[in-house]
Amino acid sequence: MLEKKKLNWGILGPGKISKKFAQDVNLVDNAVLYAVGSRSEERAKKFAQAYHVEKAYGSYEDLLNDPDVDIIYIGTPHNSHKQYAIAAMNAGKHVLCEKPLGLNLDEVKEMIDASKSNQVFLMEALWSRFNPTIVEVLGKLKEGVIGEVNYVNVDFSVYRDFPVEGRMLNMDLAGGSLLDMGIYPVFLAYLVFGYPEQILAASRFHETGADMQTAAILKYKHGIANLLSGFSSQSDMVAKIHGTQGRILLNRRWHQADGYKIVNDQDETSFQLPIKGIGYTYEIEECIDCISRGLIESPKWSHQNSVDLIKIMDEIRKQVGLKYPSEG
Ligand SMILES: NC(=O)c1ccc[n+]([C@@H]2O[C@H](COP(=O)([O-])OP(=O)(O)OC[C@H]3O[C@@H](n4cnc5c(N)ncnc54)[C@H](OP(=O)(O)O)[C@@H]3O)[C@@H](O)[C@H]2O)c1
Repeated sequence: MLEKKKLNWGILGPGKISKKFAQDVNLVDNAVLYAVGSRSEERAKKFAQAYHVEKAYGSYEDLLNDPDVDIIYIGTPHNSHKQYAIAAMNAGKHVLCEKPLGLNLDEVKEMIDASKSNQVFLMEALWSRFNPTIVEVLGKLKEGVIGEVNYVNVDFSVYRDFPVEGRMLNMDLAGGSLLDMGIYPVFLAYLVFGYPEQILAASRFHETGADMQTAAILKYKHGIANLLSGFSSQSDMVAKIHGTQGRILLNRRWHQADGYKIVNDQDETSFQLPIKGIGYTYEIEECIDCISRGLIESPKWSHQNSVDLIKIMDEIRKQVGLKYPSEG
């Protein structure tokens, strides 16, 4: 049996998601919430106190210089993932980096190069890949429970009046609905169908230049995926996967689903799969497993998977004319 390594985690950027992530680290065997680094010592100390973290650093550099940190979780805005992930890997740390891994394909490739040259683990924090419902549904699709799958209809949309200066609408921080939320529908279509043959996209923009709504149609040899992300409408957040013999519906807030339904003309069967913690526990376990095996990427969400995902997102952005200031 695999002997699992006990890993000391360091949180880089104690923002909203890092707070949730920290709660789940504390639920996983062999994961020690050891250190936090913030651009402000006060924020680092506050976070450390709230989540029982041993070391609080007032700079990211100090966090990366701690020899007892094994793996860094990057919870900063999109525009900074590459910079901090590469700095962490060059310091010899393994990295779990929030989605999207990089802003575009060039950034993702540079990050993967850093993982290879330093021989450290790197994974995009696409936690939904490890969600028990999504894992089980992928198995059911392979078994053919709804026949030949040929249509995915999935969105990720909320109605929120986000502040103009906040991360979501700030182009300097690579805000907008596609990178923040749309990545999940693109991810689900990719999991079900793979890389598309054709991509068609359209967006509506906020005055800051951030995309308020982005729709994409991905076409495959044997199917179509219809995707939407947005800040301007509520959604049932139920993902729908259709086949010749029926359909599978992933429960509301499908990216963190706690079950699913198989529906056809005759009947409807529900399956419940409770989640451990908020649901980040599974990606944390995956990092520990892979690192214990000496891997630098996860076979379940590999470097190539992150490359494919960002290539689809890049094409969507190209079609709608969405560029971030750092891209020139
Ligand atoms: N997996 C999920 O469920 C999920 C959910 C929401 C968001 N996310 C992802 O998590 C990342 C962070 O999102 P968030 O909502 O947690 O963001 P947030 O609340 O704004 O936090 C980001 C943190 O990054 C640090 N930071 C570093 N440079 C910064 C800059 N130039 N401007 C602002 N903050 C900066 C800040 O911490 P210090 O200044 O204290 O160092 C800040 O607290 C994004 O990649 C997002 O897509 C994932």
